[in-house]
Amino acid sequence: MYRALYAVLLRRLPPEAAHRGAFWLIRAVAAVPGAAWGLRRALGPRDPGLRVRALGLDFPGPLGLAAGFDKDGEGVTGLAALGFGFVEVGTVTARPQPGNPRPRMFRFPAERALVNRMGFNNHGAAALAARLRSLRAGGGYRPIVGVNIGKTKAVPEDEAVADYVASARLVADVADYVVVNVSSPNTPGLRDLQSVGKLRPLLCAVRAALDQASPRRRVPLLVKIAPDLADEDVDAVADLALELGLDGIIATNTTISRDGLHDEQAVAAAGPGGLSGAPLKSRALAVLGRLHARADGRLILIAAGGIETADDARDRLAAGATLLQAYTAFIYEGPLWPRRVQAGLAKRGSAA
Ligand SMILES: Cc1cc2nc3c(=O)[nH]c(=O)nc-3n(C[C@H](O)[C@H](O)[C@H](O)COP(=O)(O)O)c2cc1C
Repeated sequence: MYRALYAVLLRRLPPEAAHRGAFWLIRAVAAVPGAAWGLRRALGPRDPGLRVRALGLDFPGPLGLAAGFDKDGEGVTGLAALGFGFVEVGTVTARPQPGNPRPRMFRFPAERALVNRMGFNNHGAAALAARLRSLRAGGGYRPIVGVNIGKTKAVPEDEAVADYVASARLVADVADYVVVNVSSPNTPGLRDLQSVGKLRPLLCAVRAALDQASPRRRVPLLVKIAPDLADEDVDAVADLALELGLDGIIATNTTISRDGLHDEQAVAAAGPGGLSGAPLKSRALAVLGRLHARADGRLILIAAGGIETADDARDRLAAGATLLQAYTAFIYEGPLWPRRVQAGLAKRGSAA
């Protein structure tokens, strides 16, 4: 049904409008009393074999929604009701910002890919924290929510650490885990923060801010990296994460490469931005394997990038991932997709 809706309606809408409409619908359905509960029962991961204990948390299933879909934490209950085992909100920045001018999201349906240069459009870390706080206060079911933080575009690079620290302080008490995003290609200079010389002081400061703001509960801290890092830089980030006692790494964000896209005109028309979806699959898997070899079980690895099927999910788990995230396949495959992937995982898991 979603495929028919996609073919008839959604693909005719500009991608961002389709996203907004679909997200509105998910939230509207979840707001009907009892609907989120019913959906969760129907679509949520129920096989005990899918449960994951990691980061001090009990995940009902390994597949989460990657950052960027719900930047401001407006729909976590509805999204979790579709079967995601956790939802990562953000990227939020210390100051609210509008992001880049539209259009800034482009479909490549033949390659099951997207290019985006959203540029961290978000209402700011304080607004997100307030929203998540009221969700907690409301009682009832609350899914596991990670918070992904990035740099405010207007802040100069030499003040980046203070900017991340401000966000970390704001979200510390409402985040089940925090991710330092240094890998989005759409904020000038952001990815330079992945070099160990810049990453060390940044991660140290964010760790200290979280400990100070949340003295009773140690908030797990992860870093999210780009697939475009050279192999030795991937190793260096893994070494640094171990040295600093980070909890894990998310591999990977979108790529600036256009390998795997065939329509050169469409590529040129889209312009700059990060590529996600199927073309990212092999590099994301390779980066994950590299991190696993380096960290040897001492870090929680969250795999993202081109996960489309239960087989993809199994490949990532076999390559060392503890948890999985996706965004682009959810756009193309629709609301029943998270259930399908996890049901496929459960089936083959029990047959293995
Ligand atoms: C439209 C769009 C917006 C995104 N925004 C963010 C973001 O704000 N922060 C972030 O860390 N990753 C962001 N991502 C990257 C995803 O979280 C994910 O790492 C990437 O898309 C690879 O996974 P996929 O191939 O399943 O989409 C975004 C991706 C897309 C497609």
